[in-house]
Amino acid sequence: MARPRVYVSRRIQDSALRLLREHCDVELYDSECPPPKSVLVKSLEDKDAALILLSDTIDREVLDKAERLRVVSTMSAGYDHIDLKEATARGVYVTNVPSVLTDAVAEFSLALLFSVARRIVEADRFLRRGSWKIAWSPMFMLGPEISGKTLGIIGLGAIGKAVATRARCLGMRVIYFSRTRKPDVEAELGVSYRPLKDLLRESDFIILSTALTPETFKMIGEPELRSMKPSSYLINISRGAVVDEKALVKALKEGWIAGAALDVFEKEPLDPDNPLIGMDNVVLTPHMASATFEARRRLAEKAAENILSVLRGQAPPSLLNPEVMRVKPLEMVKML
Ligand code: DGY
Repeated sequence: MARPRVYVSRRIQDSALRLLREHCDVELYDSECPPPKSVLVKSLEDKDAALILLSDTIDREVLDKAERLRVVSTMSAGYDHIDLKEATARGVYVTNVPSVLTDAVAEFSLALLFSVARRIVEADRFLRRGSWKIAWSPMFMLGPEISGKTLGIIGLGAIGKAVATRARCLGMRVIYFSRTRKPDVEAELGVSYRPLKDLLRESDFIILSTALTPETFKMIGEPELRSMKPSSYLINISRGAVVDEKALVKALKEGWIAGAALDVFEKEPLDPDNPLIGMDNVVLTPHMASATFEARRRLAEKAAENILSVLRGQAPPSLLNPEVMRVKPLEMVKML
């Protein structure tokens, strides 16, 4: 049988490319930037598999032309950039990599929390622009202590739980909201469930770690932001569209909340004229919560392994559309 043809839509870790090249012919879009849509469509026309990133949209237009495609493997935990329904209808297996970035993202969430609360980025900017004129002053650059404060986590999946574990070690009280209540996790981690409106009212810090779905789209809008404490902070490491960004800008300008730390945005990359850029009470990072050497290497390797599993006729551990097995059983996609 001919070697499977795999498209890799970005320069990724060599170890992952080696895994694929051992068994497949790989076409690499050798760039840091995403391929333009027209290039993606054209490139997938003759491919059996695609390894893509969260900034590559796999929709009906792409899938319509990709008649040979058997598997799409995204090198990310999030998969809101893939039309699962359309992929399933065409018998295309879709996989993600949910678990390997948990620690990296949890660590980064807390780094954001510390940065915004203790004004680290603001202070760094202050010092570099030459504004530090008084050696030490009792009322200067104050921020809230973390210990003893209430952290509200929205979305208690693997990342939410890893954040909760760490926050408990910091002496925080942790409450959470998620679609389903998790009594076993509550007992194990010492966290308590709250309905969303209570969590918004009670929390000193809120971390969003929920997937983007039709239910979570803009779940934090004007009413939710208005119900938060004026001394509270919002941290978003999930997806930008979970927050109504316009309402957030208003909340930050008008002091409904004290600050925000954001790793994700409605539009990425962020426009240079986005009003968030001019705000001192906001920490902004370019969607990099999982950017550790370890997490990104594992992410790339797992994404490659997911492709090989499907091409070997084996269900990968993180199959996002298991219904696809009824549309096209694994024996029919097997090539290795
Ligand atoms: C993901 O994998 O979904 C994350 O957003 C990457 O940082």
